[in-house]
Amino acid sequence: MTKPDHLSVLDALHSTPARRRLSTEPIPDDVIWAVLDAAVRGPSGGNAQQWAWVVVRDRAIKDRIASWYLEGWNAAYGSRREEFLSAAPSELPMSPQAFLGAEHLAVHLAEAPVWIVPALLGAADSRDPLTGSSIYGAVQQLFLAAHAYGVGTNLTTLYRAHEADVRDLLRLPEDALTMCLIPMGYPDGGSWSQPRRKPVEAVTHWDEYGARRPRS
Ligand SMILES: Cc1cc2nc3c(=O)[nH]c(=O)nc-3n(C[C@H](O)[C@H](O)[C@H](O)COP(=O)(O)O)c2cc1C
Repeated sequence: MTKPDHLSVLDALHSTPARRRLSTEPIPDDVIWAVLDAAVRGPSGGNAQQWAWVVVRDRAIKDRIASWYLEGWNAAYGSRREEFLSAAPSELPMSPQAFLGAEHLAVHLAEAPVWIVPALLGAADSRDPLTGSSIYGAVQQLFLAAHAYGVGTNLTTLYRAHEADVRDLLRLPEDALTMCLIPMGYPDGGSWSQPRRKPVEAVTHWDEYGARRPRS
């Protein structure tokens, strides 16, 4: 049995960035099970748990979906490479470093040893903006549990123009909606650094929007 690191919840919350440079080293089955078992402890509306977690390791399936992902990457970001790489850090939300990491992932996605594709059953036609809230808490739990086992993760969606193709390829039910694709692997570059975010004081409002307080 693989033993997880002793990582406090708060330490994990402050040190789980997107890991996009992943080695091809296989992830043992017991780790995959443990990480998924932590994920499914997450919340869903009415505890309905209308979810399915597809573990993808088959290279032919990964290659197919990775080609769709690369299409999405090129359309949204790859075609704007120079713009992202030459921008001052404050001008674009994605830093040049993050861009290069995301580009690396887009090119090497199929090499990640394991992917998890979480799907919500019965959600394919949903127009409810809260739909995702019945799975994204669990997805975040998956990220934190994976970190405890030294496994890097990232939430990706750039395959989405091929949602129906992905659903067919994974043999998901017609009414299922994939909620993201999570490449998993032992990190090969980068670090478990604190994610950079706007200061909490800048995004916190007390009782009404716009009412700020300095952090005590
Ligand atoms: C809805 C959503 C979609 C995302 N799609 C992608 C994606 O397709 N590819 C990717 O590399 N990262 C994707 N990300 C990851 C974000 O880019 C990442 O969470 C953000 O840049 C913060 O990264 P950090 O935690 O390392 O600071 C997505 C994140 C979210 C929440």
